[in-house]
Amino acid sequence: MASVHPLPVPEPAAEERPVLVLDLGGQYAQLIARRVRDARVYSELVPHTLGIDEIRRRNPVALILSGGPASVYADGAPRVDEQLFDLGIPTLGICYGAQLMALELGGEVARTGTSEFGKTELEHGAGTLFSGLPPRQTVWMSHRDTVVAPPAGASVTGQSPSTPVAAFEDARRRLYGVQFHPEVVHTPYGQDLLKNFLYAVADAPPAWTPAAVIEEQVERIRAQVGHERVLCALSGGVDSAVAALLVHKAVGDQLTCVFVDHGFMRSNEGEQVAETFGRHFHVPLVHVEAQERFLARLAGVAEPEEKRRRIGEEFIRVFEEEASKLGDTRFLVQGTLYSDVIESGGTEGVAAKIKSHHNVGGLPAEMAMELVEPLRLLFKDEVRRVGEELGMPERMVWRQPFPGPGLAIRIIGEVTRERLEILRGADAILQDEVRRAGLYRDLWQSFAVLPAIKSVGVQGDERTYAYPIVIRAVTSEDAMTADWARLPYDLLETISSRIINEIPGVNRVALDISSKPPSTIEWE
Ligand code: XMP
Repeated sequence: MASVHPLPVPEPAAEERPVLVLDLGGQYAQLIARRVRDARVYSELVPHTLGIDEIRRRNPVALILSGGPASVYADGAPRVDEQLFDLGIPTLGICYGAQLMALELGGEVARTGTSEFGKTELEHGAGTLFSGLPPRQTVWMSHRDTVVAPPAGASVTGQSPSTPVAAFEDARRRLYGVQFHPEVVHTPYGQDLLKNFLYAVADAPPAWTPAAVIEEQVERIRAQVGHERVLCALSGGVDSAVAALLVHKAVGDQLTCVFVDHGFMRSNEGEQVAETFGRHFHVPLVHVEAQERFLARLAGVAEPEEKRRRIGEEFIRVFEEEASKLGDTRFLVQGTLYSDVIESGGTEGVAAKIKSHHNVGGLPAEMAMELVEPLRLLFKDEVRRVGEELGMPERMVWRQPFPGPGLAIRIIGEVTRERLEILRGADAILQDEVRRAGLYRDLWQSFAVLPAIKSVGVQGDERTYAYPIVIRAVTSEDAMTADWARLPYDLLETISSRIINEIPGVNRVALDISSKPPSTIEWE
């Protein structure tokens, strides 16, 4: 993807006091921020190294210290500034975060040498965190060291069979710690506990709703853009669509959307974008029918990365041509999500490049436009809720992820007009049946793949020599890992017989039963 000029995360508005989740390296740190937001309180994930002055400046309503590596005694184990606990800010430590609090505040953490992992029974007494919750409950543990004495001034409020200090609190200083993980689903009352912390301890009202997000973003966009013109590349996906609608709500017809139809969209998708944006929302829209150009650029190319590169390059070329026709435009909308922001700011080593993801809207630096990124603070599910609130059609809001290069990377081999038509037809049947079975939203993705090989079949006493279609359906949380979906046999049968009977050129349907890793979700 071409490089772009990212803007820093925008300054939060003064009234928007965040709950800061200090990331101590635990695998659930991001999940904690999401759970806080699920409770309708605005939350951000920040590195644990964030300076004390910066924390003061952000004026958080509460702090949460996340889980982290196995031992607080390990070499280089992450620490926080001890002054953090003197700021008078309500603070909740989770797992490693709780141990760190105990260690810094005069309690004691023992290296037990044994670990506790999985579900356990928690017994708790009084305590604000447990207010209104049953006295015994199941919680999820994942730790090795354990707090054996709470911080000075704190009392023990919960224990489990192998963890004598599973929860503690110092109500006067508003410092709280839990050894278990309230943020995971295996702790059934975890969300209630978080709500107690947010609403009762931190006095943070559940005011962060999609309507509030829209209102705030609209103001922010207006402040950034003024009377200048704005350009947005629509991909047909939910992110760019929601970003465009937000900008349109803010600055109306100062926005022009460009929809480059590369011809690799699914059935009817191009028309749907034109219909929704042009006719329903009255957003000024340039619909570029560039199918022939893209097909020509891919002639004779079978190598996956080369396909991606050519599509990305051609996309930029077409987009630039259209942009130059529109005259001077200072701003460009981009649907960057909070998860992208977190990932690009991450400190982990650079992972091996498996595939170069092409995101429609990635533009070359020489275009030198300033970015408007109204989704920069939102997770994917929040983007969907904002889309619903803006009145976007259900089909668009809940669309499964679709790769920028589209069907071109689902034809394994050279992309030709004939193959595209076959794949598009087969995919439409698959989508149709998955929706009819009520499974569309349960699956992360479900789609058809066309490997450009042929096999022998027989149809009406005639020998056939035609393409197979592969059904790929996966469940996933975040696409980093995925499992193949156990679709009902009856559904598979319907999909298979409809594809073979209705799509000329196909005589066989196969099912992909590979998980990720070691496979990937897409075939290329
Ligand atoms: P893989 O195939 O790597 O895909 O398991 C993970 C997720 O990313 C999507 N994907 C893409 N998205 N441009 C995109 O915008 C791409 O080039 C691209 N390739 C894969 C894929 O659909 C899955 O959700």
